[in-house]
Amino acid sequence: MPLTCDFLVIGSGIAGLSFALEAAEHGEVIVVTKRSREESNTKYAQGGIAAVLDEDDSFDAHVADTMTAGVGLNHIRAVELTVKDAPARIAMLRSAGAKFDLASTRAHADESSPSLTRAEQDLDLHLEGGHSARRIVHAGDMTGREVERALVEAVSAKKNVRVLDEHMAVDLITLAQHGGPEVAAGAYVLDVEHGKVVTILARATVLATGGAGKVYLYTTNPDVATGDGIAMAFRAGAEVANMEFYQFHPTCLFHPQAKDFLISEALRGEGAVLKRLDGTPFMKEFHPRAELAPRDIVARAIDHEMKRSGAEHVLLDITHEDPTFIKEHFPGIYAQCMRYGIDITRQPIPVVPAAHYLCGGITTDLDGRTTIPGLWAIGECAHTGLHGANRLASNSLLEGMVFAHRAARELAKIERSAPWPEVPEWDVGEAVPSDEAVVITQNWDELRRLMWNYVGIVRSDKRLRRAARRIALLQEEIAEYYWKYFVTRDLLELRNIATVAQLIVECASARRESRGLHFTLDHRETDPKMARDMVIKRGVPAHLGHPAAPAAPAAPPAGEQAGRARDQQGAG
Ligand code: FAD
Ligand code: SIN
Repeated sequence: MPLTCDFLVIGSGIAGLSFALEAAEHGEVIVVTKRSREESNTKYAQGGIAAVLDEDDSFDAHVADTMTAGVGLNHIRAVELTVKDAPARIAMLRSAGAKFDLASTRAHADESSPSLTRAEQDLDLHLEGGHSARRIVHAGDMTGREVERALVEAVSAKKNVRVLDEHMAVDLITLAQHGGPEVAAGAYVLDVEHGKVVTILARATVLATGGAGKVYLYTTNPDVATGDGIAMAFRAGAEVANMEFYQFHPTCLFHPQAKDFLISEALRGEGAVLKRLDGTPFMKEFHPRAELAPRDIVARAIDHEMKRSGAEHVLLDITHEDPTFIKEHFPGIYAQCMRYGIDITRQPIPVVPAAHYLCGGITTDLDGRTTIPGLWAIGECAHTGLHGANRLASNSLLEGMVFAHRAARELAKIERSAPWPEVPEWDVGEAVPSDEAVVITQNWDELRRLMWNYVGIVRSDKRLRRAARRIALLQEEIAEYYWKYFVTRDLLELRNIATVAQLIVECASARRESRGLHFTLDHRETDPKMARDMVIKRGVPAHLGHPAAPAAPAAPPAGEQAGRARDQQGAG
């Protein structure tokens, strides 16, 4: 028997949980999440959440900064509504129990500040690259941990919400797969502990699966970030956009034992300087705003310096700052670096760029609707038009909440009385348990390394062609393995990063210009004629779409189905 609910939410980061919290007022919610409910990109967010809260700041300035970073591809309506809704979303988080730093922290550290009483009522606001004002709400340098804690607690207290940990969505169910109309009806979900695939039917299916940093060898993202939602939506026939715009964070800790540890942009906001190994600063040679230039420029400058000198990393130096201030504002980074023997109050930090954030994703309208009726997408897996060709720092936690709120508001109106459709349970077909898991590790490593080497910060036509050929070969092997053996989380993740890699390469190859995060040696200039989103659908190659309008729903190519045609593999 399938499980049923009004709202099936896939993912438990800021987008999924804030949606669930609100949707619980309108119906029954099931949240499936592939590891424990806290595990998400959200939990590791450091810098904070951008919101105009200072009287010297303005919505217009936040809009302008977002548009400058996005290099002509932002959808202005998405930008304006996000910026204007930010203060209300911060208030929502605080009422859900999130505790952010108050201005008194800064006042205590800065003895010249006399206004403790006023300051104690206000949120402390950090500055980050690309922002023209202090507007980053934060909880020390572990903002995501606090946000995730508060949301998990709030959602767990809701009786209308059931959270299924260790449940990984395998594929979406659409009625078109079973001869009906093109409507999403839920998902097949792997119960990881029991190795069974369960069917979950829903009135609305909401993808909130986050990013795909694991498609690259070096990333700031945790293991869950394998682009599952994007891959599932693409297989189901939904439109996906702007996958070439993968953001590389300039400063990830470089240390043999450190895995994926970010050094927040907020350090540069507080004056940290990027230096060569000989101690000379270099960012002024690349941009007038030096360390506070947009992220794509800083990441490319570091890449250039490393390639030019042959160094394995550069240095980020905040030693000129008061040690008490550093320890109070960056307690997580201070402690983590100390674990590796680096005292950031006295020594510069070795840093390298790493894959961080996917600006593209599943095309949605301004309320989170995808091009498949009944399927919604929110958070990092969605392409709402907010970020354009490069995301402004600390705009993504915000985007997740804003669009979760808008989707929940729209979904409050849906019809909830129609009978449930008949869909077959997952069918294992001829599959057997695998005796060759080495295929997964081999392909996993190869794919991520080739993406890093050929589709990284600096691209070329030749590298993209090489990558495309190798990805196609790997996909053949993965498909063969997928049909032969029972599905496991590792296999599904590998299959999904391969799809995401394919989409990134196809979009990057079709964008024959350099813009924002997409820089190619063969087309170094920005071409005004290409100031449009790159869109792609299964069976339809990457091509330029309209800048702001989401595509209309369309039927998938005849005979194609989402998921596994043994696409109902393995009933549970
Ligand atoms: P996530 O928080 O990633 O949640 C996705 C969820 O989906 C997870 O629970 C995952 O387990 C689940 N999931 C995925 N696939 C499946 C599946 N198949 N089945 C079931 N569950 C699935 N942004 C900012 O705005 N400010 C910052 O300061 C900031 N700092 C960052 C620091 C780091 C180190 C990183 C990695 C990112 C940072 N970002 C920051 C980006 C931001 O954290 C993310 O963009 C944001 O948290 C994404 O939220 P989300 O809800 O869309 O996805
Ligand atoms: C950071 O703290 O540098 C990350 C901010 C972001 O990715 O928005």
